Amino acid sequence: MIKKYRIGNPIETDSVVIQIDSENEKVPYFQMMEEKKELSLQMEKKDSVFGLGETVRGINKRGYIYTSNCSDDPNHTEDKRSLYAAQNFFVVWGQGRGFGMYVDAPGRVTFDIGYTDLDTFTISFDDFDADLYVVEGESIKEIVKEFRGIIGKSYVPPRWAFGFGQSRWSYMNEQEVREVVENYEEQNIPIDSVYLDIDYMERYKDFTISDERFPNFKDFVKEMADKGIHLVPIIDAGVKIEDGYDVYEEGVQGDYFCKKEDGTNLVAAVWPGKVHFPDFLNEDARRWFGEKYKVLLDLGIDGFWNDMNEPAIFYTEDHLKEVFQELKEYEGKNLDIRSFFHMQGLVGGLANNEEDYRRFYHDYKGKRYRHDKVHNLFGYNMTRAAGEAFERLSPDKRILMFSRSSYIGMHRYGGVWCGDNKSWWSHLLLNIQQMPALNMCGFLYSGADVGGFGADATEDLLMRWAEFGIFTPLLRNHSAEGTRRQEFYRFAKTDGFKNILRLRYALIPYLYSEFMKAAKNDEMIFTPLCFEYPEDDLAYEVEDQLCVGESIMIAPVYKQNATGRYVYLPEQMKLCRFRSYDDYDVEIMEKGHHYIKAAMNEVLVFIRKGHALPLATPADRTEKIDYTNLKYECFQCDQDAYQLYMDDGISR
Ligand code: GLC
Repeated sequence: MIKKYRIGNPIETDSVVIQIDSENEKVPYFQMMEEKKELSLQMEKKDSVFGLGETVRGINKRGYIYTSNCSDDPNHTEDKRSLYAAQNFFVVWGQGRGFGMYVDAPGRVTFDIGYTDLDTFTISFDDFDADLYVVEGESIKEIVKEFRGIIGKSYVPPRWAFGFGQSRWSYMNEQEVREVVENYEEQNIPIDSVYLDIDYMERYKDFTISDERFPNFKDFVKEMADKGIHLVPIIDAGVKIEDGYDVYEEGVQGDYFCKKEDGTNLVAAVWPGKVHFPDFLNEDARRWFGEKYKVLLDLGIDGFWNDMNEPAIFYTEDHLKEVFQELKEYEGKNLDIRSFFHMQGLVGGLANNEEDYRRFYHDYKGKRYRHDKVHNLFGYNMTRAAGEAFERLSPDKRILMFSRSSYIGMHRYGGVWCGDNKSWWSHLLLNIQQMPALNMCGFLYSGADVGGFGADATEDLLMRWAEFGIFTPLLRNHSAEGTRRQEFYRFAKTDGFKNILRLRYALIPYLYSEFMKAAKNDEMIFTPLCFEYPEDDLAYEVEDQLCVGESIMIAPVYKQNATGRYVYLPEQMKLCRFRSYDDYDVEIMEKGHHYIKAAMNEVLVFIRKGHALPLATPADRTEKIDYTNLKYECFQCDQDAYQLYMDDGISR
């Protein structure tokens, strides 16, 4: 059961698609403190808090403070309060009871879940205007399903997007891309896509292609398509200001860009230097920008990733001017502790400055809003622009789309990747912990940069990360320019990588089937153990194992030099220790704690009682897998216990 409670005069976000009338009663569970713009709840000892989508820290969010404020921050350390997303749905659960709440407010909202006071959960607002949806249910899974039922169905990508994708910021030309594919083919490592980062463009201009680096792009797309490889270009939020550039000129003529208070277009800077931001919140601008994807669709492209859409701002023209002015005062001075830090802060504070988010406006649903009031809707609506356009431009064929920034509602138009993580073991664990929370908020097609984006990956980290990544719908190895190259074929243990990737392809019928069932039935793919075994107190403390779909539980190794790990089994399960899809040993494991060996190249998969896991013979491309000829690994059932979902993988 879901009830809606309105505080103040909230801004419509289009995240909820079902019309629900608001109640006239008080908000339940939380105490409202109007003057402080706060809602406050006394938590019980046993209460856990789950959800909030893509954030830092563990599966149980209790014990820290999180702020919904989509941020371009590449340092996902545990002291951060905001990452790229604003996904304000959570469930409080303890002692066999609880509730869910969706806080629909597009501005900044802070969730203090036992940070200020261990037992108090306080939600505070910059503007005390919000629609609160309170969800009741018999179990956490039921609450999630109820909630998902009001926000609309999750985005479904083409099936090939379940194949592996190689990416790197700095594939400079078509020859480099060709070599990536050749190397994968030579090593017999399956691959379905190569991502094109900003360097494919002409001077970082959206919807252009560098003639110099990709001289015959259409032919090149075809050459790759003939090999079964999809090229997936990046699209950035900022449009370069440059005379003669059609997107810029059309945007100016159509009045599609975000404006400052004086009515002139905001000038910010990102990769191309000075840019304007399309006003994605505006329907006309959204339609215009969406149509631009046609330029690439017409060249044979069938997948995209939308980036820098928090939006990321290196600086605004106005702020930069102010900083230069102020810096002059420091020239020739003897700088002491305060003045030195202040001066340093002037330059350091240029990027993603809060003040800049108050310098521009949106024309949204017939009204003008200052950006910070609707900040968290920006990336959502950029991806919505694309998603809505794809429905018109590609009515029969699904298009791959995922975004960096997001808000609930965007899950209908695309997936997400978890942004600029690092090649750290702690970020492998973070990846594991983020997946269920993303699923709770409707984001099913998601994953993180396998191997880590920033910093230098080591072979063992990459391998352990791949061993988890093969279960995430979006499986992409991506890294930053200047870091150690981390394509799987660059390391000595190529066979290990090959077998892990081939195991992924063996699992695709299962993963795709579980994905489609979750999308159709508003369910999750990744669940924490306590969602599946709510009666088991110990299950609530397991932060590093997940159930993936109905049949399996996984326990990834995420520590360096580990030759195994402790695993908690809430019931008897059948362990399959995979070295490759057809080389694995099997052992029945009893309920309880175990130390389980897992050599560097071994993947631990536990089959749940009464469940079956279909396995295909891997192929080098997703669409070459023989989906009719599957082998089933079963535990206390036969293969009929599993209902396989199948379709053509491409039509809408
Ligand atoms: C951002 C993206 C990253 C990309 C880079 C260059 O940092 O998050 O994935 O590689 O921009 O486009």
